[in-house]
Amino acid sequence: MFLPSALFLASISLLAHLTTSQAQQLLPLPSGRDYNVTISHLHFHSPSSPDPYHPDPTAGRHVMISVFYPLRKNICSGRCYPAYMPNATAVVSGAQFFGSQQNDSRIFENIKFQACCGVKQGNMTNPTAYPVVVIEPNVGTTRFLYGAIAQEIASQGYVVVTVDHPYDSSIVELDPGSGSENSTALKKVELDPFVAMNPWNATVTKAFNTRLSDLEIVTTSLRNYTILQSAGLNTTLIPIPQNAAFNTLPANTNIIGHGLGGSISTYLSTLPSTPSPYLAANSSVYINLAGTPPLIPSDTYAPILFFGLSPGFRREDSPHWNASWPHFRGDATEWDLFPGQIYDYSDLPLILNITSSEYPGARDMVRGVGPVGGKVGMKVAWEVTTKWVWAYLGLSWEWKGRASVERRLNEFVGEYQGVMRTYPRV
Ligand SMILES: *[C@@H]1O[C@H](CO)[C@@H](O)[C@H](O)[C@H]1NC(C)=O
Ligand SMILES: *[C@@H]1O[C@H](CO)[C@@H](O)[C@H](O)[C@H]1NC(C)=O
Ligand SMILES: *[C@@H]1O[C@H](CO)[C@@H](O)[C@H](O)[C@H]1NC(C)=O
Ligand SMILES: *[C@@H]1O[C@H](CO)[C@@H](O)[C@H](O)[C@H]1NC(C)=O
Ligand SMILES: *[C@@H]1O[C@H](CO)[C@@H](O)[C@H](O)[C@H]1NC(C)=O
Ligand SMILES: *[C@@H]1O[C@H](CO)[C@@H](O)[C@H](O)[C@H]1NC(C)=O
Ligand SMILES: *[C@@H]1O[C@H](CO)[C@@H](O)[C@H](O)[C@H]1NC(C)=O
Ligand SMILES: *[C@@H]1O[C@H](CO)[C@@H](O)[C@H](O)[C@H]1NC(C)=O
Ligand SMILES: *[C@@H]1O[C@H](CO)[C@@H](O)[C@H](O)[C@H]1NC(C)=O
Ligand SMILES: *[C@@H]1O[C@H](CO)[C@@H](O)[C@H](O)[C@H]1NC(C)=O
Ligand SMILES: *[C@@H]1O[C@H](CO)[C@@H](O)[C@H](O)[C@H]1NC(C)=O
Repeated sequence: MFLPSALFLASISLLAHLTTSQAQQLLPLPSGRDYNVTISHLHFHSPSSPDPYHPDPTAGRHVMISVFYPLRKNICSGRCYPAYMPNATAVVSGAQFFGSQQNDSRIFENIKFQACCGVKQGNMTNPTAYPVVVIEPNVGTTRFLYGAIAQEIASQGYVVVTVDHPYDSSIVELDPGSGSENSTALKKVELDPFVAMNPWNATVTKAFNTRLSDLEIVTTSLRNYTILQSAGLNTTLIPIPQNAAFNTLPANTNIIGHGLGGSISTYLSTLPSTPSPYLAANSSVYINLAGTPPLIPSDTYAPILFFGLSPGFRREDSPHWNASWPHFRGDATEWDLFPGQIYDYSDLPLILNITSSEYPGARDMVRGVGPVGGKVGMKVAWEVTTKWVWAYLGLSWEWKGRASVERRLNEFVGEYQGVMRTYPRV
């Protein structure tokens, strides 16, 4: 179940010896037993959706997503090593999390996924076969900082989609590698990606509503074969039949959000009836990782899942959680990472783990990661995040209707006890 770290570190140092100039760090293979994962990036453009941050509001709205797609192991055609981030994104993210000293080390630039590059000749894949999980990043970061979480969840049999919102993300490359400055959107939203949002003001509302509108674009586009083609779906990587699309939306969509993304997730979970049929809550899973929800003013039976941070960001620390909590009449659960910081709920703890031999100083430079998350040399916070997310998804999608739910739950608890022992406080 756990990643073979010893073996893995051995293979890294082998790689370090082999390549003289720039060593590459490989993310671990995801742990799913039945699926390999292929990764594809799509560019949606909705001319009819105004972009409130673009100087020309009639230019329409762009949204970038990455799709982490599960492929049954027997049809995967072979291994490839896609970049963790495109280059300009890696530079911006490096400066953000490691400061300007990171320029020489190029931490993000050298990380690669181990992914599947497509299916065997003659095989196809059915995109309606899997529930969809949308990962909504925190404001001021990028979707790429959640790629390893996405790949891990996808390997359990989910289509995972990470979303970048232009001018809200730190940087969005609409056409990576083109070098055109017009195709790069830098952050304009004046919200700090390192602090919990308080108060909820007009800046937050504008960013929040823009994200909801972007999610409409994403869900509408994923359902449409023609749009998928023009968005650049690489059918070598994800070969779907003519006119197929991700039709299981909306009922099968789950949203895992971090920071401002968590606000979106909790909000959508509590809607009695949504403005969009595509975002309707049903048995879907909505997880809020360290995000402030909008004020929930009346009673809701929606299951609420909040992962907080202690000290500093438990529900008592947020006026909106505080005031909304009495209205949660169904299951409402809070888990707090102690002692935690906001980017413990991202790939950063894992990044620190796999790059530690190449960049021993990275742990001291990193911003937003707590001692449990990475500085003591473990990737525990990353494992906790992925395993709990997977567990909640599993409870909703895999075990429902099976007679053996209780037995599976016990298996699950056994499997997770190791992780929970190092996850000190709930
Ligand atoms: C697919 O997954 C299995 C088990 O994790 C692994 O052994 C295999 O190398 C993977 N294939 C590719 C192409 O990554
Ligand atoms: C980053 O830049 C290098 C060298 O210019 C290039 O070889 C590589 O393909 C680029 N990677 C990405 C993901 O754009
Ligand atoms: C690191 O790179 C950034 C962005 O390219 C640049 O602004 C900064 O001056 C560089 N810092 C150093 C120390 O080279
Ligand atoms: C893959 O393609 C081969 C050859 O056409 C076929 O025999 C096999 O059943 C296919 N497997 C799957 C899982 O679709
Ligand atoms: C960028 O956009 C501006 C205005 O839309 C245009 O004048 C300019 O030619 C574009 N530059 C490139 C490199 O495409
Ligand atoms: C709005 O609130 C955020 C925190 O949620 C704060 O960072 C920002 O400065 C505020 N903006 C204005 C214009 O007051
Ligand atoms: C799919 O998108 C195309 C292009 O935007 C549009 O013409 C078509 O009507 C859409 N199909 C459906 C079923 O919505
Ligand atoms: C699609 O993916 C394959 C396999 O990685 C790659 O060789 C090919 O260049 C990609 N096609 C496009 C248009 O990006
Ligand atoms: C929601 O779930 C119920 C019970 O599982 C099901 O009957 C209903 O069709 C679902 N609604 C949607 C919109 O999928
Ligand atoms: C939340 O409620 C508790 C007790 O009801 C109170 O002590 C605390 O100050 C409140 N926190 C905020 C941020 O409103
Ligand atoms: C990486 O994480 C694993 C598992 O938590 C741990 O055993 C290992 O010591 C860590 N490696 C480094 C270099 O921090």
